[in-house]
Amino acid sequence: MTVEDRGGGSRGEDRRMDRSRPASATRDLERYAGLFASRTRVMTSSAMRDLMAITERPDVISLAGGLPDTSTFPAETLAAVMARVAADASARALQYGPTDGLLAARETICTVMAQGGAEAHPDDVLVTTGGQQVIDLVCKALIDPGDVIVAEGPTYPGAVPAFSAYQADVVQIAMDADGMRVDELEETLDRLEREGRRPKFIYTVPTFQNPAGVTLSLPRRRRLVEVAHQRELIVLEDDPYGLLRFEGEPLPTLYELDGGHFVVYAGTFSKILAPGVRLGWAVAPRPVLEKLNLGAQASTLCPSPFAQLFVIAYLESGHWPAYVAELVALYRRRRDVMLEALAAHLPAEASWTRPEGGLFVWATLPDFLDTTDLLALALRRNVAFVPGRAAYLDGRGGSSLRLNFSGSSDEAIREGIARIGLVVREQLDLYGTLTGRMPAVPARADERAERASELADVLALPRRGRGEARRRDTR
Ligand SMILES: Cc1ncc(COP(=O)(O)O)c(C=O)c1O
Repeated sequence: MTVEDRGGGSRGEDRRMDRSRPASATRDLERYAGLFASRTRVMTSSAMRDLMAITERPDVISLAGGLPDTSTFPAETLAAVMARVAADASARALQYGPTDGLLAARETICTVMAQGGAEAHPDDVLVTTGGQQVIDLVCKALIDPGDVIVAEGPTYPGAVPAFSAYQADVVQIAMDADGMRVDELEETLDRLEREGRRPKFIYTVPTFQNPAGVTLSLPRRRRLVEVAHQRELIVLEDDPYGLLRFEGEPLPTLYELDGGHFVVYAGTFSKILAPGVRLGWAVAPRPVLEKLNLGAQASTLCPSPFAQLFVIAYLESGHWPAYVAELVALYRRRRDVMLEALAAHLPAEASWTRPEGGLFVWATLPDFLDTTDLLALALRRNVAFVPGRAAYLDGRGGSSLRLNFSGSSDEAIREGIARIGLVVREQLDLYGTLTGRMPAVPARADERAERASELADVLALPRRGRGEARRRDTR
């Protein structure tokens, strides 16, 4: 007997029954519970996905998503490129394709990688349904329950559900303004070795990291690749943002420094074209690539030929470099707006990163404030962010938050940060009232910078006005 039989009819009937008799929902849950695989017990939902339903409300200013601004993509260009695909390759676009992707798509990907300075061969490329699928496929190929993955702390919140689904034991390495602390990584690898545990891979977003916004320095890049070679460890380099640089000199990717031995590179068109095309790629050493390919066969059969032909035609149209330049200029301005708003509205106890590219700022509040609780209060004021805990697997990150600046207008960013600032100050005042003291605020900017040295490319924040300081001090 199938679940549906036991439920008393077709799915359609089930749904009708659910609607008319909501009490049956609990019974249904119990009925299904025995069928789920044990791994579903540790599967978690992505914080951003959960937030998306709320943040889609038009009255909510969402600084939570990682959304690029797709409104800047000219509709006429989209129509023209689609028309070209329809005219030139309609049958191919509508057909299944090879699992590793169309050759022309893999060649196009190699030209995109060359923009970032990396040379790749089309035979080393697997086209995927976004960068997210690369993370999933790497876990699928390498992770048995209990295996160790080393990641940055904080890590990309969207990777957390993937790591959890494969029941990995994730060890997170602290970061500062120069990205992952590679010295701490080495100490951790030594400790794991003593415990007889060899990590299956190191996951990193070295450039304009999501969520921290920081970039791994060149010396650390070199050292990380050396460490991978010495210890024969795979590094998964996730690089959605490398081409979105607002300032500073481009750095070589880990893939480039590695020379094709231990680095698996994950790229995507989501942030340099549009996430709706759902197209990304992996470049990996052949034996790894073969396993990724097998995993992809089981999950998607092949990446969408329609999407691939669209991307190929769009890049051939010659509009792409100007479009990326436009995005860079737009996001640079929005980053500046956000940094100004943070300086104006967050209290002196807060610190935040200053990204040189990408989409995110990571802010840290005094450690007695919990940003998960704060989010509930912020949502009441119709503003959302990602609470820091979403970027850790061990409960850390409670006083931090991720703020996105690419997906909102200048006005929305200003207003959103002002509302968050209000909620934060209310909580600080409440803390002061309840404890009878104000949190210790280091007197000098250099002391504050030291305190916030974790992830601190800390801005010199304006001091509080005298009157305000007095008001707080008398509480
Ligand atoms: C670091 C990182 N990796 C992967 C992804 C997933 O992107 P895609 O749309 O290519 O699946 C994102 C999306 O925000 C990301 O920030």
